[in-house]
Amino acid sequence: MIHIPKSEYGRRRKALMAQMVPNSIAILPAAAVAIRNRDVEHVYRQDSDFQYLSGFPEPQAVIVLMPGREHGEYILFCRERNAERELWDGLRAGQEGAISEYGADDAFPITDLDDILPGLIEGRDRVYSAMGSNPEFDRHLMDWINVIRSKAHLGAQPPNEFVALDHLLHDMRLYKSAAEVKVMREAARISAQAHIRAMQASRAGLYEFSLEAELDYEFRKGGAKMPAYGSIVAAGRNSCILHYQQNDAVLKDGDLVLIDAGCEIDCYASDITRTWPVNGKFSAEQKAIYELVLASQEAALAEIAPNNHWNQAHEATVQVITAGLVKLGLLQGDVDELIASEAYKAFYMHRAGHWLGMDVHDVGEYKVGGEWRVLEVGMALTVEPGIYIAANNQTVAKKWRGIGVRIEDDVVVTKTGCEILTHGVPKTVAEIEALMAAARAPAA
Ligand code: GLY
Ligand code: MN
Ligand code: MN
Repeated sequence: MIHIPKSEYGRRRKALMAQMVPNSIAILPAAAVAIRNRDVEHVYRQDSDFQYLSGFPEPQAVIVLMPGREHGEYILFCRERNAERELWDGLRAGQEGAISEYGADDAFPITDLDDILPGLIEGRDRVYSAMGSNPEFDRHLMDWINVIRSKAHLGAQPPNEFVALDHLLHDMRLYKSAAEVKVMREAARISAQAHIRAMQASRAGLYEFSLEAELDYEFRKGGAKMPAYGSIVAAGRNSCILHYQQNDAVLKDGDLVLIDAGCEIDCYASDITRTWPVNGKFSAEQKAIYELVLASQEAALAEIAPNNHWNQAHEATVQVITAGLVKLGLLQGDVDELIASEAYKAFYMHRAGHWLGMDVHDVGEYKVGGEWRVLEVGMALTVEPGIYIAANNQTVAKKWRGIGVRIEDDVVVTKTGCEILTHGVPKTVAEIEALMAAARAPAA
């Protein structure tokens, strides 16, 4: 299995601590276990920031980073070993494993957090934490601070500054290392395979969930624990619902099906959309819209390179889509004016992409000092233009209604442009039709 090497977590912690002010402390909790119903839990997914700094997969844990601390800078609070619980729920690293397997300098039972943490915070000038994202943990933090304050008359020194960790950490996460790109390439490879399998299985009379099952099969077979987000399998008019998740409608002859799905490997997401005809052959109108979206995506991909700004790719898609919609008679007027008045938004209402990484809509600022961010080597993003003509859109000729097309690929900025991680799925009309025809051909 391809994964982030253990040594990389140590490098990340060092890089973060190098940016923290002297005499400070950073505190991060693991994700809580979410109850699905009664005593059934949702599949556990570690918090991305916590995972980024530790690779530690268990709940009920807290990372503490104290640059310059003599007895070790990296302290991990985690569950104790427990033969009875491990028999029922699985193995735990325990404090010994936290040190030997996960590189902690020091480890304590999570049950000792309230006793030990105030002492670690005491005397530090600044506390870094993910304020606001975990209200329960924020409350605990204030409790620990109040414990220190209550001892002020004994000379205890509570910290004066509380700083959001996000700014430092999320900027680090925006730049992907070689190891991260390798993991993202693997997630993209498996997801590409899943889309191919769904294309091959596509038949009128099946259901949207039939194709979702094909995706899930490839994800799990490839070693992914779960999809990076709820898979969108949207046939016919459902393709015009941007975050459609019902996935229970029948696939009809003559309709398109839009699939937006990607798996997660070692907590790194992939995010692919392809759109194809249920019966394997595009109609003239479907093909016209599809090729327009594809042309806009190619124009956007050409804008992704170091020193270009974040919005250039989006602007390229707006230009190509608006001009194309005028040509097809779906918009009337002057292209520049239609862009200025945002008339294209009736058909293309979302942006051309987002940062991609441990979170599918990954962290990182899109603007710096009020200006669009300039692309740099190692940034990962999606490129995903679309055109959606709702089934009830009375302003266009009937033949266009109910066509929704999105094409989405994942890229990483390189020195000379970008690497397309998701190149493994067919994308042109000819490629898709050929793949689907081959899947339907009777065995020789
Ligand atoms: N799958 C969500 C997105 O494409 O942004
Ligand atoms: Mn996306
Ligand atoms: Mn997507």
